[in-house]
Amino acid sequence: MEHLRIPLLSLFVFLLNLSPLHFLSLADDYFINCGSHDDVSLTPGQNFSGESKPVGYSFSKSKAVKDINQLPDISSLYKTARSFNKPFYYQFSITEDGNYLVRLHFSAFSSSSSNNLSTAVFGVLDSKNFTLLNNFTTKNTTYSPVIKEFFLRIDITDSFRLYFTPQPSSFAFVNAIELFPAPADFIAENYTSNLPLHTVYRLTIGGSPVNDTIWRKWETDDSHISDQNSAKKAPPENALNLNYRGGIEGLLASNESVAPLSVYQTAREMMNGSSNITWFFSVSSKARHIVRAHFCDIVGQPGNSIFNLYANANFRKEVGNISQSSIFQYSAVPFYYSAVPKTNFLKTDST
Ligand SMILES: *[C@@H]1O[C@H](CO)[C@@H](O)[C@H](O)[C@H]1NC(C)=O
Ligand SMILES: *[C@@H]1O[C@H](CO)[C@@H](O)[C@H](O)[C@H]1NC(C)=O
Ligand SMILES: *[C@@H]1O[C@H](CO)[C@@H](O)[C@H](O)[C@H]1NC(C)=O
Ligand SMILES: *[C@@H]1O[C@H](CO)[C@@H](O)[C@H](O)[C@H]1NC(C)=O
Ligand SMILES: *[C@@H]1O[C@H](CO)[C@@H](O)[C@H](O)[C@H]1NC(C)=O
Ligand SMILES: *[C@@H]1O[C@H](CO)[C@@H](O)[C@H](O)[C@H]1NC(C)=O
Ligand SMILES: *[C@@H]1O[C@H](CO)[C@@H](O)[C@H](O)[C@H]1NC(C)=O
Ligand SMILES: *[C@@H]1O[C@H](CO)[C@@H](O)[C@H](O)[C@H]1NC(C)=O
Ligand SMILES: *[C@@H]1O[C@H](CO)[C@@H](O)[C@H](O)[C@H]1NC(C)=O
Ligand SMILES: *[C@@H]1O[C@H](CO)[C@@H](O)[C@H](O)[C@H]1NC(C)=O
Ligand SMILES: *[C@@H]1O[C@H](CO)[C@@H](O)[C@H](O)[C@H]1NC(C)=O
Repeated sequence: MEHLRIPLLSLFVFLLNLSPLHFLSLADDYFINCGSHDDVSLTPGQNFSGESKPVGYSFSKSKAVKDINQLPDISSLYKTARSFNKPFYYQFSITEDGNYLVRLHFSAFSSSSSNNLSTAVFGVLDSKNFTLLNNFTTKNTTYSPVIKEFFLRIDITDSFRLYFTPQPSSFAFVNAIELFPAPADFIAENYTSNLPLHTVYRLTIGGSPVNDTIWRKWETDDSHISDQNSAKKAPPENALNLNYRGGIEGLLASNESVAPLSVYQTAREMMNGSSNITWFFSVSSKARHIVRAHFCDIVGQPGNSIFNLYANANFRKEVGNISQSSIFQYSAVPFYYSAVPKTNFLKTDST
């Protein structure tokens, strides 16, 4: 294995996930406050509508349930839910083919007309019967919302539905649903499957947590780095060089549609004496994963940082060699790679 020669640049990694921004069509935007009549704004601009007058969507027989405890310090989005002890679905009118982002919000509470939601065990399937969540439970997460995010291909010939299917003698629930279009080009290069993608990790490296303009959450990488002494946080760089739309020589320049620029303004760089920086991720061995790594050379002189990015042993990409791409001669240019490692991997090495 080759070794990282100079500093590692801004890097963040996320698995089974890609990155959109534009809304193709407002008609296909759904933000639903399930089981409630009230409109709720969760974060600025992220407004969920109550279900008193559903527009463009419907749901099958099920119950609206409400938290009997009504704790004040949690969004009212999480104090109501739609629940049932038999399968139920939400059906959405979709007017354009494309890739859509779906987020399902779950937060367990106790209700008079239902059980303690934390006892529910259920699955979530899409219109093609693809399992988004299997034997899902919010046990141990009472009052701590769990948000599951998916990227799905939807054809307008589908009558798009999300099915909530309880295990025998259990029930299913959901507190809120987001469904809106992602740009057509958000799928990773060479990822040809139509299977839904499930976001597993999304990290900003060396920075603070970020919520972006489409409410993607970027967590810190601190708990994924294998050796804290291998890397230090680089001084943040506020002036990025965004003059390379589209990219240069096969490298994709990034922009705010791909990822918020703030994630490119922070980085980790190697400590003197370490040979690599390694991040570890626990993943399911039953799934294939996409890794997208984002870089921006905000460390030292441009062209000085040449290193390899590895995902386990089966993916390697040389980064920073000017003879591979002239993009590397400029500093502070955001760019990214996506890879689908050939077999499963349990860690991401950068050497
Ligand atoms: C979201 O709701 C807030 C407060 O109710 C409102 O001020 C804002 O304009 C809404 N934003 C959108 C995008 O609808
Ligand atoms: C629901 O049950 C769990 C244990 O199963 C318990 O920890 C939690 O406090 C209960 N929630 C409420 C709101 O009663
Ligand atoms: C999904 O599964 C259900 C029940 O197993 C079945 O009735 C339905 O036809 C299936 N739908 C598709 C699109 O395969
Ligand atoms: C869910 O878990 C139960 C018990 O652990 C198991 O019997 C069942 O087969 C699982 N269901 C699915 C769809 O995996
Ligand atoms: C919930 O917590 C208990 C005790 O901490 C643990 O044994 C159990 O596996 C947890 N369940 C889930 C679904 O995480
Ligand atoms: C996509 O496939 C082409 C042809 O196999 C290859 O040259 C290219 O490097 C691949 N791109 C990525 C990001 O893996
Ligand atoms: C991101 O949004 C969540 C609510 O969804 C909020 O709790 C959190 O504080 C926000 N984080 C930042 C860094 O804005
Ligand atoms: C952002 O980058 C993506 C992918 O490289 C590209 O398709 C899109 O047009 C770019 N958006 C802007 C506003 O430049
Ligand atoms: C890195 O360490 C080497 C010896 O291990 C030393 O010669 C060099 O000056 C150090 N560089 C920096 C930037 O500290
Ligand atoms: C990365 O560096 C650590 C020491 O910091 C070393 O144990 C490990 O073997 C290195 N991994 C690779 C792939 O070079
Ligand atoms: C950069 O790439 C060229 C051509 O592939 C190669 O000859 C050279 O050794 C590389 N430079 C470094 C520092 O790896």
